[in-house]
Amino acid sequence: MNEQGATPVPPTTAPWWRSAVIYQVYIRSFADGDGDGVGDIAGIRSRLPYLKSLGVDALWINPWYKSPQADHGYDVADYREIDPLFGTVAEAEQFIEEAHAHGIRIVPDIVPNHSSDQHAWFRAALAAGPGSPERERYIFRPGRGPDGSLPPNDWDSRFGGPAWTRVADGEWYLHLFAPQQPDLDWQHPDVHAEFEAVLRFWFERGVDGFRIDVAHGLVKDPELPDLAGLTDGGVHPFWDRDQVHDIYRAWRRLADEYPGDRSFVAEAWTDTPERLASYVRSDGLHTAFNFDFLMTDWDAKDLRAVIDDTLAMLGTVGAPATWVMSNHDVMRHASRYGRRAAKKWVANESYVPAGPADLALGTRRARAAALLTLALPGGAYVYQGEELGLPEVEDLPESVLQDPVWERSGHTDRGRDGCRVPIPWSGETAPYGFSPADATAAPWLPQPADWAPYTVAAQTGDETSMLELYRAALRVRRDHPALGDGTLTWLDDAPEGVLAFRREPGFVCVVNLSTEPYPLPEHTSVLLAGEPVENGRLAPDQAAWLAL
Ligand code: NOJ
Repeated sequence: MNEQGATPVPPTTAPWWRSAVIYQVYIRSFADGDGDGVGDIAGIRSRLPYLKSLGVDALWINPWYKSPQADHGYDVADYREIDPLFGTVAEAEQFIEEAHAHGIRIVPDIVPNHSSDQHAWFRAALAAGPGSPERERYIFRPGRGPDGSLPPNDWDSRFGGPAWTRVADGEWYLHLFAPQQPDLDWQHPDVHAEFEAVLRFWFERGVDGFRIDVAHGLVKDPELPDLAGLTDGGVHPFWDRDQVHDIYRAWRRLADEYPGDRSFVAEAWTDTPERLASYVRSDGLHTAFNFDFLMTDWDAKDLRAVIDDTLAMLGTVGAPATWVMSNHDVMRHASRYGRRAAKKWVANESYVPAGPADLALGTRRARAAALLTLALPGGAYVYQGEELGLPEVEDLPESVLQDPVWERSGHTDRGRDGCRVPIPWSGETAPYGFSPADATAAPWLPQPADWAPYTVAAQTGDETSMLELYRAALRVRRDHPALGDGTLTWLDDAPEGVLAFRREPGFVCVVNLSTEPYPLPEHTSVLLAGEPVENGRLAPDQAAWLAL
């Protein structure tokens, strides 16, 4: 046996975010209250009892601010307004209060790397022209070449094409994402002051924290050097630069002024777990998404290595781990795990599937994976619909694709719409209760014709369903003193292909990733299993929680 994770088991008064299960609400696709085919705050409010019965601790809400929706809300025109598609600030306040009454915390997204090109600051910058103070809040530069017709450097946008767009007066502005998402210049004091004011605006309205979009991208090398000059191990000109931590130290101090353990979670894509740990020191952010885990294939050795590295590295800074399998940017894991082929992550966030998914296999593994992630030390994220076992919708017709990635990639990358299809609640046909019966529009992305078995209504009460497995797991997790924050001890007598670990007091999680049934280790009872355990043996691609 070997001890992993240096963090001592914290006292029971440990802050909520060290153990929380946070459910991700992709607002456009969760529940449509007003019948326009797009999810909204009214829809989430109507589903609070569902979320309560599921047993989650908090909701991460994707951007709900005023936005032209060029990147579905990640292009914010006004950080203090709710987009009319989703509701109003008054409704958001009501929602936060109602969620709190259900014991559910609210963690909205904040998008500090870029604004919308419709933000008042960017419009003013365009109107004011080159050399104006208004342009200094963004990253405007003259072009290269004799007539300035070449972009200022060789950076590409994450969505394809150059990261620069030229405006009418000849200057170029930087956008690491779509042209409608100009990057803010975090060297400018106005930018710091504005975001701190925005955080306060929402903290005062009761939010419990923020998910920080592109947390690793805010600070650019002021020289804006070409990427071509980047040497191996050199400091990247825009990703994960040390100076971002100054921003987060200030944000941490700000959050600490408010009661109730307000907290941040960073979307930070870093090269190593060491670099990730630098975001979550005690004077920095509280937690960060663990994308290494998300990008690990269904392989016992690889998963164990990632779990060990994560716990060891975060342990050195006393931060809890987070465990994430899916979100609105990646192929749903029931579809990823349904592919036996080797790893196909080509870059952060981009998963290129090899061959068709075996969904029966992917679903079995997704059940086992849920028990694995919910038993690991720290917090966990559940992306809406994963509790229903939803697969990726891989056959959306090209004519309905909306992700800017599709256009920007010159139609070579279909983008992320397949994991964003509105979720099914009830009924036999679309919109499966996503929109009210008198809706005036169809769901913004079409739902598959064969989703009736995936609805909440169809799965509720069916003990074999994914939904009831999640409900049961979250119930056990909430009640069992061993689960949540803490440490784990591997049972090293488990054979290759089997992950087995113990948590104190008296809890063992076993996951069989091998091709042979595995006789369960000694236990007093099976607390939960992906499928009924027969003759004390755990079938391949299954997991069980045991009491000792
Ligand atoms: C990460 C978000 O998760 C993604 O959906 C968005 O497109 C980019 N950041 C840009 O804001």
